Amino acid sequence: MDREGTRDAGGTCLIAGCGYVGTRLARRLAARGPVLALVRSAASAEGLAAAGIPARSVDFDAPAASLEDLGPFDAVAYLAPPEGLGETDLRLARFLAALGDRRPQVLLYLSTTGVYGDTGGAVVDEASPTAPGDARSRQRLDAERQAARWCGARAARSVILRVPAIYGPHRLPLDRLQRGEPVLRAEDSGPGNRIHVDDLVAACLAALEPPVTGVFNLTDGHPETLAAFTGRLARLVGLPAPAEVAWAEAQGRISPGLLAFLRQSRRVASRRAADLGWSPALDPEAGLRASLREMGFELSSEAR
Ligand SMILES: NC(=O)c1ccc[n+]([C@@H]2O[C@H](COP(=O)([O-])OP(=O)(O)OC[C@H]3O[C@@H](n4cnc5c(N)ncnc54)[C@H](OP(=O)(O)O)[C@@H]3O)[C@@H](O)[C@H]2O)c1
Repeated sequence: MDREGTRDAGGTCLIAGCGYVGTRLARRLAARGPVLALVRSAASAEGLAAAGIPARSVDFDAPAASLEDLGPFDAVAYLAPPEGLGETDLRLARFLAALGDRRPQVLLYLSTTGVYGDTGGAVVDEASPTAPGDARSRQRLDAERQAARWCGARAARSVILRVPAIYGPHRLPLDRLQRGEPVLRAEDSGPGNRIHVDDLVAACLAALEPPVTGVFNLTDGHPETLAAFTGRLARLVGLPAPAEVAWAEAQGRISPGLLAFLRQSRRVASRRAADLGWSPALDPEAGLRASLREMGFELSSEAR
């Protein structure tokens, strides 16, 4: 790594689970040093290779997977989600086991702010107790602990980034808007915490550099309800704002997964952002505009 970083010159960064976030991270990292993307499917590996990102397909869920034949690497960004079942992240456990006795300098684990559970809208920062309220969030907390233990045994830096909803180009609620799906009315939903993917990638880049270590919350610092965020998007693309419904009407009209997500409410604060040397550049308005521009949208005349 050359730039402001001080990791070993030329050290390779493995991006384990190189999907939406990973691909954008790989592009930024590639300007600084070698990267190797690990993905599950051959199709994803081929797509990355076609985009100039060295990639290999390996299924972390396969008990016999081995990664000991990888060339040298000094950093790992683990961005794969937990597997669907249980309360422990067996996928991460298998991945770490597959690395054998390799000793990178840093393991970055991308977690979620779901580990704080539902605080009824109260503020959570990195010092707040974790209280995951569902199996998925308990898997995340388990994964964080696995990552920290693994690093502790190798004198590697452990960096855990707790992230709320990620949005960006091609990750916008446009389909729901175009289908005319309603949103939960503002008075029934808690503050929504978000981060634009490019701010997240900037935080990942900072997190890979020494001496960063520990747990960090990441957020754009502008919590707003899904109704407000979707209404903002509608204005920018010149579509009608979505209808707002109360909880009682929401069942059957809004997907159960989204409703479960909306049932949890907390306000996320990034108190340790300065230790990361990071601050978000994009509030929801700027982030949506940048996303839409990258997707080739003409912003509506009212929005310009
Ligand atoms: N979406 C959000 O709002 C949000 C919020 C907070 C945190 N997160 C978390 O942030 C992380 C990155 O998100 P993302 O949107 O970039 O995810 P994504 O686009 O779904 O990418 C996930 C990547 O993991 C790979 N993967 C999945 N299972 C694997 C396995 N068994 N073996 C090897 N590779 C495997 C996938 O490979 P294939 O392409 O081959 O399937 C893909 O490259 C995830 O952990 C996600 O859960 C997301």
